[in-house]
Order: sequence, then structure tokens, then C-alpha cells
Amino acid sequence: MNILVTGVAGFIGNAVSIALLQRGDKVVGLDNMNNYYSVELKEARLKRLDSEIYRIDICDKQKLMEVFRDNKIDAVVHLAAQAGVRYSLENPQAYIDSNITGTLNIFECCKDFGVKNIVFASSSSVYGDNAKIPFSTEDRTDNPVSLYAATKKSCELMAHTYSHLFGLNITGLRYFTVYGPWGRPDMAPMLFAKNILEGKPIKVFNNGNMKRDFTYIEDIVNGTISCLNHDTQDLRINRIFNIGRGEPVDLMRFIEILENGLGKKAIKEFLPMQAGDVPVTWADTSALEKATGYRPKISLETGIKHFAEWYLEFSHN
Ligand SMILES: NC(=O)c1ccc[n+]([C@@H]2O[C@H](COP(=O)([O-])OP(=O)(O)OC[C@H]3O[C@@H](n4cnc5c(N)ncnc54)[C@H](O)[C@@H]3O)[C@@H](O)[C@H]2O)c1
Repeated sequence: MNILVTGVAGFIGNAVSIALLQRGDKVVGLDNMNNYYSVELKEARLKRLDSEIYRIDICDKQKLMEVFRDNKIDAVVHLAAQAGVRYSLENPQAYIDSNITGTLNIFECCKDFGVKNIVFASSSSVYGDNAKIPFSTEDRTDNPVSLYAATKKSCELMAHTYSHLFGLNITGLRYFTVYGPWGRPDMAPMLFAKNILEGKPIKVFNNGNMKRDFTYIEDIVNGTISCLNHDTQDLRINRIFNIGRGEPVDLMRFIEILENGLGKKAIKEFLPMQAGDVPVTWADTSALEKATGYRPKISLETGIKHFAEWYLEFSHN
């Protein structure tokens, strides 16, 4: 297939693209290379790919249409977004632009150019501070506690509309705390690894009373790609799945395993809960397993080992 991957220089988009190329698909990559975090890291990720890359913004509808016009796209993996819960308190407009306007433009182009096979990134954050665990796609998700979550929920609603009105087959994936090599410098694993190695304190929010369903990038990649593998023409699918490991881990346990992987102890600064954050995430992935056979394979110990090995090498270059 000829697959458009948006956010190709990002953590997940880059890893998905590599896997698609490995299985013989052609990847048309797109990214605006914004400086929300290190552009150098995004450039380094792109060097891992042998693909045509469009350095454009999905908010630019005209340029986006040209990409669809110039390439016969069979499927879209839409991962470009303004990510990060905390930054949405600082720069809300970036979320409305990239996540809502940008996603609308993607769906519009898919409609206009007859692309019917679409997978896009939603987020576990749509569950807000859901008291019921594990989080199921049957649970209500109309109480977002950050604007980031509100924009991701909006994407899910738009997906429903475009599927219903125009027969697009769209799968939204609610990702649960993804970690691994080539990860995001604004997320805990890389923030922690950097400070641990530099002998600086790490910020442990809610005094460490947090649980996260940490999910290794390889499992995320396999789950994402498995959702593209359906007969695309006449299904009119609109699906929302959780994709996580399905096993919440205490933040303090995560830190301990990371300390072992890096061979150095962390200096911990215990802090209260941050605005917009939630104390626990835990994915019920049974629906995705039923539909695609998804089963996460990588344990936290193995995943952090791979991550720490990569980080040690990465931080020396
Ligand atoms: N990593 C996680 O744990 C996680 C959890 C839940 C949801 N998600 C979602 O998964 C997707 C991928 O996340 P990631 O961790 O790879 O994030 P990332 O920030 O590493 O990747 C996103 C990429 O999209 C690009 N981008 C942003 N706005 C754009 C725009 N307007 N036009 C073109 N490109 C743009 C960025 O430059 C970046 O390279 C995002 O939609 C994110 O919200 C990620």
C-alpha cells in the first residue's frame, strides 16, 4: 500500500513508518517539524527513513491537497498533533489548530480523494479522571480535564461524522503512555533519564502516587498497523480502541527499573499533582484484541532495558 503517515518525524509516526517500510509498503511522510521539542531529534528520526517527506503543516489545506493529488494514497495513519497535556495550559491555540483544524483537513482530503482506510491517534487522556478502572471504550468520555483531551475527543467525534456521512473507514486509537527508544523528550521516561544521568533531581508528581499503563513502542506499532489491515472499500467502519499494555505500573516502580537500566540512582523531588493530570491510567484492550488479535508482548523490564540502552548511546552523541 501507499500510506501517508502524518507526524512522521514524531516518536510514534517514525516507528510506524519504519515498520511499514519493512513490510514492503510505501510511506509518504508528512511533518511540519515544529519546535515543541528538539527539531534535531526529529531530523535524526527522519534519517532512519528512506521515504519522501513533505515538510508541511496539516493546517495548510492547499498544500495538504497537493500531497493527496501528487500521490495515490491508499491509507492514512494520522499521528501529527500537538501532543502533551501540560503544554495545553500554556498554548491552547496550538491544540485547536493542529488537532482540530488539522484533523478536519485530513478527513476532508480523505473524503475528496477517495481514501477510505484511516487510522488516527486519540489518547487515554479522553478518560479524564474516570474513577472506574480499567478504562473501557464503553466508559463515558465527556469530562476531559485538559484541552489536549478535549481536542482528542473532538477528533473522535469528527471521525464518527466523516465515517457516517461519507463512508470513510476510520479507526481511532487511544494510546496509553508510550515509551521506548527514540521517545519524546517532554515525557517522563526521557525527562527522568536525562536528569538521572546529569545528577539532577527528577520531579515526581502527586508524591509518587501515580500509576501509568506504560506501553512499549513496538507493541504500539504492531497494534496501529493491525488496524490498517482490513478490506477498505465498503466497510464504513468507525471504531475506537484502547491500545495499552493493560497493566498499570506504580510510578515509583517505573523509576526503580529505570535506575537499574541506567545504572544510577535518581534524586527525587516529590511534588503535588499537576493541573490537568490524572492519577491513574489503565487500558482495557479486550476490544482491540477481539478485532485484531492485539496482544502486547514487551514487559516493562524488557522495554525499559531497551530504552535505557538506547538513551545511554543517544545522550553520548
Ligand atoms: N506518545 C504517547 O504516549 C501518546 C499518548 C497518547 C496519544 N498520543 C498521540 O499520538 C500521536 C503521536 O504522538 P507522538 O508521541 O509521536 O508525538 P510527537 O510530538 O513525537 O509527534 C507528533 C509529530 O507531529 C508533528 N506535527 C505537530 N503538529 C503538526 C502539524 N500541524 N502539521 C504537521 N505536523 C505536525 C510534530 O512535528 C511531531 O513530529 C499524537 O497524535 C499524540 O497526541 C501519543
